Amino acid sequence: MKQEKGTKRIIIAIDGPAASGKSTTARRVAQQLGYIYIDTGAMYRSVTLKVLQLGLLDHLRRSPESVSDVIKDISIRFEGDRVFLNDSDVTAEIRDNRVSREVSFISSLKHVRDRLREMQQEFGRQRGVVMDGRDIGTVVFPDAELKIFLVADSRERAKRRYAELIAKCPDGGELPDLDVLEDEIIKRDRADAEREHAPLTKHVDAFEIDTSDLTIDRQVDIVYNLALDLQKDCR
Ligand code: DC
Repeated sequence: MKQEKGTKRIIIAIDGPAASGKSTTARRVAQQLGYIYIDTGAMYRSVTLKVLQLGLLDHLRRSPESVSDVIKDISIRFEGDRVFLNDSDVTAEIRDNRVSREVSFISSLKHVRDRLREMQQEFGRQRGVVMDGRDIGTVVFPDAELKIFLVADSRERAKRRYAELIAKCPDGGELPDLDVLEDEIIKRDRADAEREHAPLTKHVDAFEIDTSDLTIDRQVDIVYNLALDLQKDCR
């Protein structure tokens, strides 16, 4: 859908815990509005992948501040749905279980958050952006015109992750158990919500939407309609 004449391009921040429907909603709302979509989780995953590739994880656990050497030369860009880390396409690799297990630790590091926040603010400078993550409405764009906080029951979220894994690996090889997936999701939420820097939390102005019983179409519609109203108000 094209931008309507006379409407202002806004910033839409979508936060919430893992597998609450953020990225699917954000991507589709961005498409419908003709906005760009930025998946900030993919940025934290890219830094985590870099740390793993360099074999520096144990070193960083002992000496977290040395992460500044890793991030100083990092560049991350998006081309449609593809994510590039220093010009290599890492779209598939950043979804590895290895990365998922370590990303909460890497994203708790202040140097990493400071650097990625700068990049995210730069991506949003032109406005007309839908950005999803954990701290977009609270820290990255506290002035975002539309702030959404998506939540869903942890069992439902584990089922969604399971369905994604089956879609990626239809022969069923190496599929984790649903209880294990749910447990991992709960642990990651706890780590994201309890960390010192920019923890996962709902901004007071955010609209909270529980997606447990909503179809994707319905959640996209809710956010899209809120955005249309706000675009008009901002004229
Ligand atoms: O959305 P995701 O599951 O791909 O995010 C991966 C991790 O990155 C998540 O566990 C927390 C972290 N993250 C963050 O700390 N801040 C953000 N804005 C986005 C993600």
